[in-house]
Amino acid sequence: MIVPSAYYRPLALGAPAPFREPPVKVERMIHFVPPHVEKIRNRVGELATQVDVVLGNLEDAVPADAKEAARAGFIEMAKANDFGAAGLWIRMNALDSPWALDDVIEIVGTVGDKLDVIMLPKVEGAWDVHYLDRLLAQLEARYEIKRPIMIHAILETAQGVMNVEEIAKASPRMHGMSLGPADLAASRRMKTTRVGGGHPGYGVLTDKEGDAPRAFYQQDLWHYTIAKMVDACAANGIKPFYGPFGDFSDGPACEAQFRNSFLLGCVGAWTLHPSQVAIAKRVFSPDVEEVKFAKRIVDAMPDGTGAVMLDGKMQDDATWKQAKVIVDLARQVAE
Ligand code: GLV
Ligand code: MG
Repeated sequence: MIVPSAYYRPLALGAPAPFREPPVKVERMIHFVPPHVEKIRNRVGELATQVDVVLGNLEDAVPADAKEAARAGFIEMAKANDFGAAGLWIRMNALDSPWALDDVIEIVGTVGDKLDVIMLPKVEGAWDVHYLDRLLAQLEARYEIKRPIMIHAILETAQGVMNVEEIAKASPRMHGMSLGPADLAASRRMKTTRVGGGHPGYGVLTDKEGDAPRAFYQQDLWHYTIAKMVDACAANGIKPFYGPFGDFSDGPACEAQFRNSFLLGCVGAWTLHPSQVAIAKRVFSPDVEEVKFAKRIVDAMPDGTGAVMLDGKMQDDATWKQAKVIVDLARQVAE
């Protein structure tokens, strides 16, 4: 007989939810691995000591005829390794694909007790999250999984962006959200073939001043969507992430894109290549000089109120809160 576990809960928002904190405090990089590739599977234990999150990718970039092998490979690597402090995630196939249901049923049924987060691609509205939420509730009850599995949505369709606020609050299982610039570009019919980053044609010219040469400044194609996603996440207490950067040969451009998202409020990004791990670690950990200054602000206003001058700059209740964000992050990274 199947009985609802203690973790079964009604979908209605506001119902008491036995939800845990996100599985790891610092998630600067979600590192993608292809579980159907044996060589990489064999190195995953060592990899887990170097990254904040290991994600077994079952979706795009895995050929259709390797989907079952990727799923089986993930189960094998989840069983064979201790992931220590690193989070263990999958990116499942999209809900309208032939593989999605088996991804969830087989993986949760075999290694659900080790799985922290399911990344759900191509989320278009709250209904997609509700579907997975209910499926997980059934499987957690059936397999007596004690820690509820969290959901992370990829924001990568125009409709998803339109519904981002509803998605962010769709379930207490929501862990966070990532921008998926490649699929989003296609969905919006943007004219690019790149995976994230800028485009040489997207920018502004400085003003005309006689015959003086005018400079062209490239701009961030993703600014609007990242800002919209960050607001939806911050308002609902979940985490925003920048997604992939596809040009592995251009570390500085990857770093610039990651940094824009960090400054706008994102907490991490995807790393698809080992060279991007160090970049993410550097970008999503606060800058030492910035932490020192933030600490001076916090120390100068012990109860967080009033106004003081530091190096000629005014500090008040609001800058105290800004400083606290940076000091708290520095503490988490140091733990
Ligand atoms: C990621 O999945 C993307 O489409 O950018
Ligand atoms: Mg995608």
